[in-house]
Amino acid sequence: MANERHYSAADRLLLQADAALRTLLPFSGKPYRPSPAQSEPETQLDAGQARHVAGLMRVNHTGEVCAQALYQGQSLTAQLPQVRSAMEQAANEEVDHLAWCEQRIRELDSRPSLLNPLFYGLSFGIGAAAGLISDRISLGFVAATEDQVCKHLDDHLGQLPEEDRKSRAILEQMRIDERQHAATALEAGGLRFPAPVKFGMSLLSKVMTKTTYRI
Ligand SMILES: [Fe+2]
Ligand SMILES: [Fe+2]
Repeated sequence: MANERHYSAADRLLLQADAALRTLLPFSGKPYRPSPAQSEPETQLDAGQARHVAGLMRVNHTGEVCAQALYQGQSLTAQLPQVRSAMEQAANEEVDHLAWCEQRIRELDSRPSLLNPLFYGLSFGIGAAAGLISDRISLGFVAATEDQVCKHLDDHLGQLPEEDRKSRAILEQMRIDERQHAATALEAGGLRFPAPVKFGMSLLSKVMTKTTYRI
């Protein structure tokens, strides 16, 4: 490809560090697309509702932190350049989700999870390890993770107060994007993971959702 860039190992490490900081530092991820919440009216939620929605959006935000880390880990170790660039494109779309969720959390007078660095590290390791084994496994992880994320999103959409159209708009657009990411990963040759692996992943995600709803 004519416009393909070549980075040295040191360049790659710096890019990884930059991506990690942009994911973990508050207000540092600049979205490529405006938030779908922008065109929706703000509604007054009572204190209990606002706390609950902030908890849900915090879980989604950490999910996006994990997605960032997974993609970054993979882009470090993916063997085929096409896989690497496909992953980078998806990671850019996750930046939107990350920024939209954070913005909504702040609007609800709350903050992202304090556990984000921990989950970033874990997911980065999983992504890098999967990429080292094979691109098929690596892409399979994307597909399985996105499936998991879609399940959370469905669950959260069911839990949102009817009047919170801003949060709803964000989660609905995210669901569209995540479905696409899962489909792209499978089309690119991703392995369909067997049920036990998926079960393990859903246990891990349960730990994440239970902890980050509050912390
Ligand atoms: Fe996402
Ligand atoms: Fe995604």
